[in-house]
Amino acid sequence: MLSVLALTAGLQSDQCQAQQQQQELDSSLWWGTYRPNLYFGTRPRLPSSLVSGLMWFGLDDRLNWQRIRHSCELGDNLAEYGYSRHNGRDFGEQSMLDNDQGVEIKSTFIKVPGERGGSWAVRFTGRTLAENMQGVSLAYYFGLEGNGTISMAVKAGAAQIKGSTPDLGKFRIRIVPAKSNRRPPVPSDLRNSVGVQAGSKINGVGMRVAKADIWKAKDLYQDKLLESARARINAFSEYAENAGSLPGSILFGMDNSGLGSGNNLFIAQMVVHGEFSFDVIYECEDKSARIDSDAIVAIASNRRKEFDSRFEAIFGLAEKGFSPEQIEMARNALSNLIGGIGYFYGSGLVSSEPKPDHIDGADDVVDAELSEPYALFATTPSRPFFPRGFLWDEGFHQLVLGQWDSDLGLEIVRSWFRTMDDNGWIAREQILGDEARNKVPREFQVQYPNFANPPTILFTVEALADRLLAQGLSSSSKDDMLQAGSEQSQEGVCDELHLLRSKLADLAQYSVRLLEFFQNTQAGDKLSRVDTVSPSAFGYRWRGRTENHTLTSGLDDYPRARLPSKYELHVDLFSWATFMTRLNTELASLTESDNEASELRKTGGELKSHLEQLDEIHWNEHDKMYCDVTMQVRDDYDELEDEDGSGGLERVFVCHRGYVSLFPMLLGLVSPNSGKLGHILDMIEDPEELWTEYGVRSLSKNDEYYGQGENYWRGPIWININYLVLSSLHRNYMTVKGPYQEQARRIYTGLRENLVNNVFAQYRDTRFFWEQYNPESGSGQRTHPFTGWTTLIVNVMAEKY
Ligand SMILES: *[C@@H]1O[C@H](CO)[C@@H](O)[C@H](O)[C@H]1NC(C)=O
Ligand SMILES: *[C@@H]1O[C@H](CO)[C@@H](O)[C@H](O)[C@H]1NC(C)=O
Repeated sequence: MLSVLALTAGLQSDQCQAQQQQQELDSSLWWGTYRPNLYFGTRPRLPSSLVSGLMWFGLDDRLNWQRIRHSCELGDNLAEYGYSRHNGRDFGEQSMLDNDQGVEIKSTFIKVPGERGGSWAVRFTGRTLAENMQGVSLAYYFGLEGNGTISMAVKAGAAQIKGSTPDLGKFRIRIVPAKSNRRPPVPSDLRNSVGVQAGSKINGVGMRVAKADIWKAKDLYQDKLLESARARINAFSEYAENAGSLPGSILFGMDNSGLGSGNNLFIAQMVVHGEFSFDVIYECEDKSARIDSDAIVAIASNRRKEFDSRFEAIFGLAEKGFSPEQIEMARNALSNLIGGIGYFYGSGLVSSEPKPDHIDGADDVVDAELSEPYALFATTPSRPFFPRGFLWDEGFHQLVLGQWDSDLGLEIVRSWFRTMDDNGWIAREQILGDEARNKVPREFQVQYPNFANPPTILFTVEALADRLLAQGLSSSSKDDMLQAGSEQSQEGVCDELHLLRSKLADLAQYSVRLLEFFQNTQAGDKLSRVDTVSPSAFGYRWRGRTENHTLTSGLDDYPRARLPSKYELHVDLFSWATFMTRLNTELASLTESDNEASELRKTGGELKSHLEQLDEIHWNEHDKMYCDVTMQVRDDYDELEDEDGSGGLERVFVCHRGYVSLFPMLLGLVSPNSGKLGHILDMIEDPEELWTEYGVRSLSKNDEYYGQGENYWRGPIWININYLVLSSLHRNYMTVKGPYQEQARRIYTGLRENLVNNVFAQYRDTRFFWEQYNPESGSGQRTHPFTGWTTLIVNVMAEKY
């Protein structure tokens, strides 16, 4: 595998590399809706800079000011929210329906290119839901988390912010309510009272807060509201008895205090009733990037059209005959995955020591410290529930995003790889900064350097390698392909093939290191003392096991050996290691030359021995399935007679029909001609085992753990694994001649139809995508909206595998 590394080093000066870096700095990825934990928020991809966000609360209920909407919360009970279109670059539109507080809000975000990230604008439109209600208070804020200055003025019916930071340079911002906005009517008996004013369309407040506290904008706003309400009640009570009955629109106003410079958090508030609209316009200093309020609608309308035609060009769903409603669902799925992209910066809690095996059930406490702050650009599985990066989810997300915008996807993949440490380790859950930590119980915050996670992130590398092979073979001779990106390439030449080649060489080094990390940290205990397997046998074991959980495997409570032991060997992990070995072999072949032939033979050999071992260690001929394995002392073991100290261990299979047992097939490690494939397909197709009308369930109906305990991965249907079933059938078994080709096709066709129909039916009824689906009823369950890997339904519809 050294060959890949050597080649990468040789590329440093290459033209393509330069072009690639250029792309990374592309100003279209500077600003974005990169605060997906909020209903709406923006920030640039800069560590400590200018952040913004939307807040609102209804004025009917006197306690609503304590339930301000800001970060997406399940408890807010929004009937619907999410993006109907988001292109990830310069356009995104979203709607939010808040029945409890009586308001519907739409946001339309656009960007205009320019220096230092260019300019952007968002138009909010909406309406209060009932004529006889008090109205709603809308707030939009800007806060500076780093160096620089900002100040606000409220004049000419708008809030105007000016400022500059070292990164953004000078900028100006306008928050402009539409002229047609109406304030809620003031009751007639109050209209002429002293101390009660009709109020203007927009007010503001500024304050100085610790840079690290800007993310708490909602709490700070709440304090101001309380302060202002108290002051107004006091003022009013001098003249009237019933001060407590002041309507919310009068009670909760901002007083335009603290607007000068020196403060770093500015909130503009608008109290509205009926239909309303307001613009937030951020402009960089670059004069070519001015945004006229009147132009927002036209720009958005163009981008909407572009989005729709590009969506059809890529996914071809209309051509495949899907209904407009199904296509709308698919568009929303992609858009919400993109709307879930975030930029995170901060420190994570990391243990410098590996966590010892948790075998005796003792809670081994290991010291953890905050890491140096670092950045991560990532997609997120669920805006309310998991608004942060998860390594194994990311790989699945990239399968969807990569179809839409592979450069954007690569930017994210590279960001993850940059977090890799010297040992090849990447923390599986990225909880960076106080804002992120605030959402995670302490016991789950610490990341351990010996905990792995499925290397799905390498799906992207695999896809690139496949693309290079396909293009290289079709467009030029193999020699040309191998030359591409090397130093012999002509000055300035950077065609698609060269660029692809260069990107792949850059990523290959991480693939090599990740496999080394798995080999060094997840190796199984030596099997050599077991007499039923060959002396050279090896296997892998997930670290981080507890009695009922293997969180590191990604399949948390899927049943494993009843009691954790250091003798366990996990078949899903073995499959992942084999997948990585195969990928690295392929990468090595893309760098092939004479002097590397011996290296190649070696990696090729590793793949062969992995495939043999998989069958030898994990295939259970009695149950006709792949199983986890553990060791136990033989019943007839007599220590007195144990001359060589073998301990009398024997191999015991731990077999649970379900996702774990499918992994060798999911990753295409079972030969199309193998009888084993037939047994696996039979298990999938059997309604008494894994088959349901709604998708393949995680654990067999006949398993003793089916539906038991937390019932997380013990029956419910997960879209990511169902996608893997389909993609493997499509790529490896359906199109290749073999005894099971017809069966593979039948399963593929039926499963695809069941999945699409059910995810669509649930979406139609609930307007949400769900974390998992019930194997008995098909109902969406647990976290929602879950717009992470459930969005793979788009690839399934489009048959993009
Ligand atoms: C802010 O300015 C101070 C003083 O000039 C400097 O030490 C610090 O690194 C700056 N912080 C950032 C985030 O740029
Ligand atoms: C694991 O599950 C078993 C069976 O449900 C239960 O008896 C046991 O208490 C659980 N162990 C822990 C540590 O929660």
